[in-house]
Amino acid sequence: MGQMNEIRNIVILTGAGVSAESGIDTFRDAGGLWEQHKVEDVATPEAFARDPDLVLRFYDMRREAIQTKEPNAAHHALGRLEAEWAKREDCELTLVTQNVDDLHERGGSERLIHMHGGHLTAWCLACDNRPEWREPLLDRPPCPTCGVAGKLRPDVVWFGEMPYQMEEIYAALSAADLFVSIGTSGAVYPAAGFVQEARGQGIRTLELNLEPSQGSAYFDESRHGPATQVVPEWVDEMLGGL
Ligand code: OAD
Repeated sequence: MGQMNEIRNIVILTGAGVSAESGIDTFRDAGGLWEQHKVEDVATPEAFARDPDLVLRFYDMRREAIQTKEPNAAHHALGRLEAEWAKREDCELTLVTQNVDDLHERGGSERLIHMHGGHLTAWCLACDNRPEWREPLLDRPPCPTCGVAGKLRPDVVWFGEMPYQMEEIYAALSAADLFVSIGTSGAVYPAAGFVQEARGQGIRTLELNLEPSQGSAYFDESRHGPATQVVPEWVDEMLGGL
């Protein structure tokens, strides 16, 4: 893409597609079903109130699964881009992910916003702390901070709940020269609206996705292919072919 020299501040949004090649299922591919439940139906506060065991079992399974997965070439490339970008004067990169796995961290990303929370912390509804957590929650363990049992829930943002750190995300967007969306279907707001927000501010927009997403038409440019291929290629381009 042209005008590369003018790009200083980059905001990147990632979704499930960036982790797909690490073996983590996306939400809307493969029918989006888990044990005959629509994934969206286990990811709501109403589902948790109605059938907490079902919801806890689902997240226990996902939490266990991610711990056996490894970051792929796309995660590593984004970690590399951040490290190199930080060396440039007055340049900033903010990575916003909808993913609740920790593969970006393990791929080297540090300036990272988990807008939908994460699998590896739990949220205690008794003391409001978010302790690190790797074990199942189904057996209602006590909170390591306050000791109250049965009040820990997944620290994941469910449909109908407010995503985390929205002010920081919009602040980063308002200072950005380039917005890049990677591996996300553009189906879930508010993340799906970031591209329109960016366009409204005259920020250049690029989509990297396996196929055209629902929001493709909003982007200045779209490149299609598996994340492990298109992301490292784009990162090399940004870093001047290094
Ligand atoms: P989706 O499952 O909706 O979309 C995944 C996107 O990744 C699709 O556009 C795929 O075409 C693309 N994709 C699949 N494999 C890919 C690959 N190897 N390389 C590149 N792209 C690939 O997942 P998200 O957009 O992340 O929210 O979903 C957004 C939110 O909806 C999630 O964070 C979650 C979900 O329900 C909550 O839980 C609140």
